Amino acid sequence: MTTEDHVAGAGDPDLPGGRPRAYTIAHLPGDGIGPEVTAVARDCVDAVAVRHGFVVEWRTYTLGAERYLATGEVLPDAVLDELRKIDAVLLGAVGSPEVPPGVLERGLLLRLRAELDLYVNLRPSKLRPGVAGAVTRHPAADLDFVIVRENTEGLYAGAGGTVHRGTAFESATEESLNTRAGVERCVRYAAGLAARRRGRLTLVHKTNVLTHAGDLWRRTAEEVAVGAGIPLEYAHVDAACLYLVDDPARFDVIVTDNLFGDILSDLGAALTGGLGIAPSGNLNPDRTGPSVFEPVHGSAPDIAGTGRANPAGAVLSAALMLDHLGEPEAAANLDAAVSAVLGSGAPDTTSDWDDALQEALVEEAGV
Ligand code: NAD
Ligand code: IPM
Ligand code: MN
Repeated sequence: MTTEDHVAGAGDPDLPGGRPRAYTIAHLPGDGIGPEVTAVARDCVDAVAVRHGFVVEWRTYTLGAERYLATGEVLPDAVLDELRKIDAVLLGAVGSPEVPPGVLERGLLLRLRAELDLYVNLRPSKLRPGVAGAVTRHPAADLDFVIVRENTEGLYAGAGGTVHRGTAFESATEESLNTRAGVERCVRYAAGLAARRRGRLTLVHKTNVLTHAGDLWRRTAEEVAVGAGIPLEYAHVDAACLYLVDDPARFDVIVTDNLFGDILSDLGAALTGGLGIAPSGNLNPDRTGPSVFEPVHGSAPDIAGTGRANPAGAVLSAALMLDHLGEPEAAANLDAAVSAVLGSGAPDTTSDWDDALQEALVEEAGV
């Protein structure tokens, strides 16, 4: 169920240096507002591809509620094998009220994160000019941080189970799995990122209660930070919520476990303009396969089909994707276009967003 889509972009075959740069990108629109927001992101990628002289071949994969309800398939192995060979994946959102919770979330999204070894979930939060954050008393410059969320372990690893189901003694366990190697590679990525930013790295955990996992995280993070020559700060996750609201300037790069990162990134989104504009990259930093880029938000069934979904998070995720693919100028172009549209008052509808972004991209290029 793959459709060969159009090939976008410009490459002058006679350019000195030979063939144009070309990327094959899988488009997984998914459920709810996923198709609506990723359609806009695709338009933007196509526009910057032309301008920056590379070619994008899109391959659309219909995965999600519709396919599951029609066929029972969530992520067929044959599709996964195709995805392994692709340059990058742009995903909308998964999850539907018509499908039991977890079927698509675990079976599609978490399976992709595990199978493709996407061990970092990069979630930047930046308050852009003209955008109202949830807390108005902070200058915009104080809200510019990145959450590096461990993305394959912790409570998401799938360990646990239910016994005595349906009896008074039914018991359910979810176990948090933390490996030395898994924590280390995640913190290493975060320390490298901090070194390229403002040099501040904060471990967020709950070492005062989760003493087993917390001890592993703390020792590992300290060793990695010493090796990277970066001081390590620490906050318990409950206090981190307070500081993010009260004193966000203290954060530059936050490194944290899977579930804490999930929760903190919605808070980060609220502080910097809302879920609609928050991007994320599920990264395979070792580049042994493709990385997956998706907005932080879900399928938003409450607004799906109304034409009111904000596509900025999807577009900024596409910008992260282009940066990862080695097209930093095109990525910066997209990022700046989103800022320009936000700065002049965000449109109310998805299609107005699309028009405004196309205009902003043209204006920036001085065309
Ligand atoms: P959600 O992110 O879909 O929506 C939360 C709220 O934010 C809703 O009121 C929604 O209307 C609003 N919202 C989200 N994105 C928006 C956008 N782009 N523009 C305007 N408003 C937006 O979270 P939820 O309601 O908790 O979950 C809905 C479904 O999505 C569930 O099935 C859940 O499992 C799934 N989900 C998927 C992902 C993902 O695919 N990465 C992430 C989160 C939730
Ligand atoms: C996210 C989502 C997912 C997560 C769900 C849908 C599995 O909330 O990407 O933030 O918990 O990671
Ligand atoms: Mn989430």
